[in-house]
This record gives sequence, C-alpha cells and structure tokens, in this order.
Amino acid sequence: MVNDAREIRVGLGPRSYSVWVGEGLLARLDEFIPAGGWRKAAVLTDSNVGPLYAETVLGGLRAAGLETELLELPAGEASKTAERAVEVIDSLIALELNRSDLVVALGGGVVGDLAGFASSVFKRGTAVVQLATTLMAQVDSSIGGKTAVNMPAAKNQVGTFHQPVAVVSDIDCLATLPAREFSSGLAEVAKYSLITQEAWGRAFRENTGAVATATPARLGEVVADCAAEKARLVSADELDTGVRHHLNYGHTLGHALEAASGYDGTYRHGEAVSVGMVFAALVSEAVGLAAIGLAGRHRDLLIPLGLPASPTGAVPSFDELAAFMRLDKKSRGDLVMVLLEKEGRPVVRSGLDPTLLEACYARLTAPGSGARRTEVK
Ligand code: NAD
Ligand code: GLY
Repeated sequence: MVNDAREIRVGLGPRSYSVWVGEGLLARLDEFIPAGGWRKAAVLTDSNVGPLYAETVLGGLRAAGLETELLELPAGEASKTAERAVEVIDSLIALELNRSDLVVALGGGVVGDLAGFASSVFKRGTAVVQLATTLMAQVDSSIGGKTAVNMPAAKNQVGTFHQPVAVVSDIDCLATLPAREFSSGLAEVAKYSLITQEAWGRAFRENTGAVATATPARLGEVVADCAAEKARLVSADELDTGVRHHLNYGHTLGHALEAASGYDGTYRHGEAVSVGMVFAALVSEAVGLAAIGLAGRHRDLLIPLGLPASPTGAVPSFDELAAFMRLDKKSRGDLVMVLLEKEGRPVVRSGLDPTLLEACYARLTAPGSGARRTEVK
C-alpha cells in the first residue's frame, strides 16, 4: 500500500512491475512512476479520455520531473490498426523520443494495446506505463504485456509481448465510463470469477447485483482481485504457452464475433466475450466435461450484468465464424478452446469436432436463447 493504493506485483524477474489500484491516483502519478531516469513522456490517449484526464496526467508527470507531449487518437476499436501504430511511431520520432523516455498509455484497452505495440517496436523497445481508465483495462488489458493491432482478416493478428514498467488503475475514472463500457468490463470480471478457485469468484457469482451499487472502495476490491488473478497467471506463463490460456475463456468465439462484425460497434469486446463464454459452456456440456446446467448458470450470471448471452445484430453463419476461429492465436491448425469442468476448473481442449461445435452454435443462436440487455450502472 502507498497512501491507500493497493499494490499487486507481477513477478517476472527483471521485468517485474507493480499494478496500483485505488482512488485519486492519476493526481499523484509521481508516487507510482518507477525511478528510471526518464527525461520525457509521450502520453497517448483517445478523443474521449484526453479531454477528461490528460491535464491531470500531464501535471502529474511534470511533478515527477518529466517533459510531456500529448498524442490523441480517435476513440474506438477502429483505431487499433497497423496504420495508426505507424502514425504513432512517426509522432514519437518527430518528438525526438529516445530509449530513456517513456510512452504513457492513458485510456482503455485500445489505447493500451496500441501504445504497448508502438512502444515495443519503437527503437526496439521503449518503456511504457499503462494508465488504465476502463474497467476492461483495469482488470485485464493493461496487465501482462500483450500488445496488438487488428488486421482486416481477424483481431489482434500482429502484436508483441512488452511488459509495462507500471500500471495505474484509478478507480475514479470508472465514474465517467459509459454504462455499456462498464458492462463490457464486467464480462472480464465474470470471466475471472468463472476460472478462479479463489473465494471472491464464488462470492461475485452469487451476488452479481451488488456490483451495480458498489462504492468506489468496493469496486477497487473487485479490480484488485481480478488484477491479482491476472498477475498470478502472467507470472506463471508470461508467453502464453500454458496456464495463461485460461484467460482466454470465452475469447475463441468472442474474437470471431468481433471480426465478423468488422469492428463496427455491434460488439464491445466484453459483450463478444460474454457470448463466447456461454458458447464455451455449451461446448463443455456437449463434450461431457461439464454437467448440464453450466450454460444456464452462465446466462444467470451474465444477463444481470447487462451482457448478451447470444449473438446480437446480424447472426453470422457458423462457417463464417469457424474461419475466424481457426485464425485464433491458440490455434495450431485446429480449433483450441478453453472449457470448464465447472466453475473454477478451466481446461484447454483441442481437436474439437466441428459438427459438435456447429450444434452448440445452433443452440446458442436458437430463438429464446437468452439475449437481453439491461443497464447496470
Ligand atoms: P476502449 O479502449 O475502446 O474504451 C472503451 C470506450 O470508453 C472508448 O470510447 C473510450 O474512449 C472510452 N473511455 C475510456 N475510458 C473512459 C473513461 N474513464 N471515461 C469515459 N470514457 C472512457 O475499449 P476497452 O473495452 O477498454 O478495451 C477493449 C480492447 O482491449 C480490445 O481491443 C481488446 O482486444 C483489448 N484487450 C486486450 C487485452 C490484452 O491483454 N492486451 C485484454 C483484454 C482486452
Ligand atoms: N487477455 C488475455 C491475456 O492477457 O492473456
């Protein structure tokens, strides 16, 4: 703890770093930027977050003795492209940043993934700090060093592993987050609650309604629990060759749904993951891994969080999604999915029968399969 901020360590030897979670942290950034002899910070943000928080962040960085520069992208997933990454790198060159400088990502997962990617290749690797402003970024994307840009063919096809030197999750930022974005982040919270064996996971699943009226202090606990779970899996498997796959629960179909929609806003990332988790539960039941009832319990968990339990908008064909799923980074030629034996017991399965998957998709998309949107915040 530093002045009420919770510290979660991601233990990766020389690449270890702290995730700070608490209220009012952006205004005290000088306490959380690790010493590194930094000269200058280039802050990358988006057109929604910049007007809200850039001034505070620039002030905090100056208080830490850094010169500051601000770069702003249009908000939204459509900015997470290789072209945008090249533009950012051009700007870093124009600003004469060097390897004793910092790139600072101020925003959600889009800014974080893009800034992480640009900083990882700029001068063969420049330090990056993640200032996470969405629930999605605070519980997941800012931690673990995965960076990416999307390609038209599929999501996150180009990326690197580049650990940040610090992550700061200021819970106060969640107050300005639109309700739909908050729900999107809750999908990842629900994911952790389904893959963890920690007591908080069961408590969250059994009292989902409480998150709607949670105080900032309670939200901070939720974020810290998820961050600790992610830190544990990343520390055990930094390069995602084993146990870290569990974090991709719901993501095989989820990423395919996002790609099939052309990132046109039909799905927020968490919404697609929510549908993907119900699909994974149906597959877990169909292969005989889980007892019948798992998918129903998923719906009972996700729908009250304001999340969809079946595809929304135009429903893509299974064949279309299967083509995207084969591009999933876990794939070694056939489909690989994270399934559940039951809550808290994830397993990675390959060699899944396409006919069985298609039948599960038909059940997912059948009329009355449960999609409903409710406002949570
Ligand atoms: P996002 O970055 O697009 O943010 C969602 C929206 O909220 C944007 O419009 C943004 O401008 C706005 N916003 C952000 N913070 C705000 C605030 N405090 N107040 C008001 N508005 C705010 O989306 P996201 O959900 O944060 O992240 C999704 C991305 O993260 C996807 O591209 C996904 O693939 C990626 N992701 C990466 C990892 C990883 O490990 N690297 C993990 C999960 C998700
Ligand atoms: N979001 C999945 C991972 O970081 O591995």
